[in-house]
Amino acid sequence: MKVLVIGSGGREHALAWALKNSPAVEELYCAPGNAGIAEVAQCVSIEVSELDKLADFAQENKIDLTVVGPEAPLCAGVVDVFRARGLTVFGPDKQAAMLEGSKDFAKEFMIKYGIPTAKGCACTDAASAREYIKKEFAAGAKGIVVKADGLAAGKGVLVALSEAEAVAFSDQCFDGEFGSAGAKVVIEEMLTGEEASIFALCDGKSIVALAPSQDHKRIFDNDAGPNTGGMGAYSPAPVVNDIVSKRIEEKVLKPFLKGVQAENLHFRGVIFVGLMIENDEPKVLEFNVRFGDPETQPVMRRFVGDLADVLYKTATCDLANARIAWRDEPAVSVVIASAGYPGKYEKGKVISGLDKAAATGAVVFHAGTAFKDGAIVSAGGRVLGVSALGKDIADAIANAYKGVAEISFDGAYYRKDIGAKALKKR
Ligand code: AMP
Ligand code: GLY
Repeated sequence: MKVLVIGSGGREHALAWALKNSPAVEELYCAPGNAGIAEVAQCVSIEVSELDKLADFAQENKIDLTVVGPEAPLCAGVVDVFRARGLTVFGPDKQAAMLEGSKDFAKEFMIKYGIPTAKGCACTDAASAREYIKKEFAAGAKGIVVKADGLAAGKGVLVALSEAEAVAFSDQCFDGEFGSAGAKVVIEEMLTGEEASIFALCDGKSIVALAPSQDHKRIFDNDAGPNTGGMGAYSPAPVVNDIVSKRIEEKVLKPFLKGVQAENLHFRGVIFVGLMIENDEPKVLEFNVRFGDPETQPVMRRFVGDLADVLYKTATCDLANARIAWRDEPAVSVVIASAGYPGKYEKGKVISGLDKAAATGAVVFHAGTAFKDGAIVSAGGRVLGVSALGKDIADAIANAYKGVAEISFDGAYYRKDIGAKALKKR
């Protein structure tokens, strides 16, 4: 098989790394890729927004399977462009990608198909949003969550603990802070509990959950500071015990598939369910229509099988015949970011110690990296994800940090407590 991966982050590196280990793959390409992906795939300099150029490339190079990494091209309709040309592509089409592209659309879908989620409402003007927020706090709410409806690169959600904070953020959305993504705002009840990420492959006929994982969204240790794209992850997630697993299957995944079928959505890809779990009851915080990052890194470290075959079968409605298994060993991935992230940060810092990190047995996935004057330099907020397996979670954590210790660049920052939550649960 000739396979093309679209994207340039740690998620795409982890997918490309697993695809490279796939017996079915003869040639592997990535557009645009990064300095680490270049070690396992041929990087092609086409941006993820250049949908026609991507399809031209796939056609000219007789690509058998294209795997789309990020949400932006999915929401822009890359799958529709590929399908119109008869190309096989892993991902939902533009309409189905609304499950991530519009929080209101997702909420309506969840309500219609009985999927447990926070109660809330969608507002299209600042005054009605203010009124709803006021009413909720007056009724005794300890907090409320305000979400820009559209894609806002992870910045469009605020968990507000006061009415003033909630109103200020909602006003900001309507004032155009997130462009058209904030023209509508979803306001919902603040849920408590522990979060987990579930990826499930869906080909429209069946749905199969992959190994659960857990992200660390906040920038600082002990979950302090602002939200980021994710500072580290581990798999499996002990909070997803057997009871929770069954409930996710029955209350979330089966109704999801039913909804996809009833609404006639073209969904042949991965649904990433962000969950809040309390007293073993899962509730959906959000849907994403792509793999999560960094969660994909530990999940791919544990994947056993032929990933290209599995994704191809998902894209061609044959998921029921795919073989998926997992290593028993847990995996941990620690993100190393640029100083200042998720705010302003500098790029172009020379990275050293990558070989030494690899010699520890860790696999270093690249997120924001590039080549410059023969060196590998930082080129984004999240720069690397250092991942390792271990005989238990404590061992996996120790192994990942052994790899991290070898790497340095000016301003390198990482959390010291990735996986600690899982440790407490043993
Ligand atoms: P989302 O993009 O909707 O997942 O929101 C980003 C983050 O905000 C989530 O990972 C949670 O940490 C938090 N969040 C979202 N919705 C809620 C909610 N209803 N209650 C509590 N926290 C939430
Ligand atoms: N790590 C969360 C996400 O990929 O959206």
